[in-house]
Amino acid sequence: MTGLFPDTRLRRTRATGWSRALHREILLTPADFIWPLFVTEGEGVEEPISSLPGVSRWSVDGIVARTKEAVALGIPCIALFPNTQADRRSDDGKEALNPDNLMCRAIRSIRDACGEEIGILTDVALDPYTAHGQDGLLDAKGYVTNDATVEVLVGQSLNQAAAGADIIAPSDMMDGRIGAIRTALEAEGHPNIQIMAYAAKYASAFYGPFRDAVGSSGVLKGDKKSYQMDPANSEEALREVALDLSEGADSVMVKPGLPYLDIVRRVKERFEVPTFAYQVSGEYAMIEAAAAAGAGDRDALVLETLTSFKRAGCSGVLTYHAAHAAKLLNG
Ligand code: PBG
Repeated sequence: MTGLFPDTRLRRTRATGWSRALHREILLTPADFIWPLFVTEGEGVEEPISSLPGVSRWSVDGIVARTKEAVALGIPCIALFPNTQADRRSDDGKEALNPDNLMCRAIRSIRDACGEEIGILTDVALDPYTAHGQDGLLDAKGYVTNDATVEVLVGQSLNQAAAGADIIAPSDMMDGRIGAIRTALEAEGHPNIQIMAYAAKYASAFYGPFRDAVGSSGVLKGDKKSYQMDPANSEEALREVALDLSEGADSVMVKPGLPYLDIVRRVKERFEVPTFAYQVSGEYAMIEAAAAAGAGDRDALVLETLTSFKRAGCSGVLTYHAAHAAKLLNG
């Protein structure tokens, strides 16, 4: 209970640094971060992404170096996204099933170099592999089919699992995919591979730089509104989360992050399960643009926004600022 002024002065505990430290309710640490990394073909390649200033695609050797950096900084997990060569993209996205695709080579190289010191999260969806940039298979009318897509996603998940992924993270928003992937993982001898479901993923305008990074923005026609969620809905987000949990997800994710912290809060309060958020590419770019325009201090913006995820109830956050924020937190 709070008494009346002046018996109660809330500024008392805020007056000094030691007292603010003592009363701080949550603590942001590098262990809260998952660092998304973009993989590209070649050797010794770094390709800066202009819509994502400060973020590059790296060839597998560079990805291994970034992962070692993450280990040294205390970041517990990285997330991999491939920029598949154009000539390996097709309408059926079958490169996703190739045991020697870019993702699988990156997973194996990281495992060789870092052992069990860091978690490897892999995205499951077909958009980096399809010639049309949609996350699934199209029917004659251009509609993204559900059940046929799920079959391919199961194959993609098993391919990543066999290469050594620790967390399978389906970002496609097809119905029923968590259950199908869980059943297949159990059947194929992967009882300890986690599934982090992109459970409440919205059809957002904040994904633009990501699509540049994985090379799908140039080819994508139309939008993803027939599978990703309407930004106006939150009851539906709770149903998505409930379904994914019942189908065998170990943790759930809300995406994008900052504009959807209300969803994080509702999910956390309702389900009391590990809940993550993805501070997506457009959010990263927005912070960088604000800092470049002199509208705010970059480091302070980064730490304040990341703190807000934890305050909202997140176990952790996927962020392109992971390494930078970890350096700030490590002093
Ligand atoms: C694709 C996928 C997207 C992101 C992660 N996985 C983009 C999309 O759905 O079009 C976005 C991440 C970001 O913007 O940082 N399945």
